[in-house]
Amino acid sequence: MEFSNELLSRLKSSKNVGSVCGAGISQESGVPTFRGEEGLWKKYKPEELANFDAFIRNPELVWEWYNYRKKLISEVEPNPGHYALSEMENLFDNFLIITQNVDNLHRKAGSKNLVEIHGNIMSSKCIKCNRRYNDLPFHENVISVPKCECGGIIRPEVVWFGELIPEDLLRRCYEFLKECQFLFVIGTSGYVHPAASFPLIAKENGAYLVEINSEETNISYMMDEILLGTSGKILPEIVGKIKN
Ligand code: APR
Repeated sequence: MEFSNELLSRLKSSKNVGSVCGAGISQESGVPTFRGEEGLWKKYKPEELANFDAFIRNPELVWEWYNYRKKLISEVEPNPGHYALSEMENLFDNFLIITQNVDNLHRKAGSKNLVEIHGNIMSSKCIKCNRRYNDLPFHENVISVPKCECGGIIRPEVVWFGELIPEDLLRRCYEFLKECQFLFVIGTSGYVHPAASFPLIAKENGAYLVEINSEETNISYMMDEILLGTSGKILPEIVGKIKN
């Protein structure tokens, strides 16, 4: 893929570079996205599986779904797009990944400068005492709901619809976006806030916005450039151009 001189010169001269990532960056690893033809929300109802009331109504169903997703995620690997972002940490003074994904793949690819605003599916917590459990075993079709020593039931430590993103994570994002000079917006349909508003905040602070997506999205209108294609192909090519 050819990249504009504008994109390359701005990227090479930027110190504060970031990326806002969505499910699309994990698609080439075999992790289903949420919207789109094969999306999870085509088969499952978020109102039954991804909100607190649904969990209290039927914790077994929610845990069955999350264990299915945990098993799937435990069997997939990061793709070249994740590794390219991990490499970018060493190419810029201040590089940050803000991801909506809970699939642990940025961490597996070695990224350290990472804000998982929707949490991480491999982490769980007690709804009564908030104790965290990082290594809950997961078995497909598990029926029993994990219980904390305090007697409370344990939930996946992910942000569900209607829930707030932890204040400290949000603060870290907003502080970064204030200084951001170049922002990739990768593999997100731009439907879910606050992530969908992050590019505009960065743009208002002078950042150059480049969207990488296999199709135009809800937020394409605000981008300076749109690179249509798969992130697993485009990101490594960008890294190659920066290193040369
Ligand atoms: N490369 C780049 N983009 C891709 C690829 C790919 N290989 N495959 C799919 N895409 C794009 C799709 O075109 C779409 O725009 O990724 C995007 C995925 O959009 P969604 O499925 O809506 O996922 P996302 O934007 O991450 O959803 C945000 O919604 O359900 C909640 O909490 C969930 O974090 C999720 C949030």
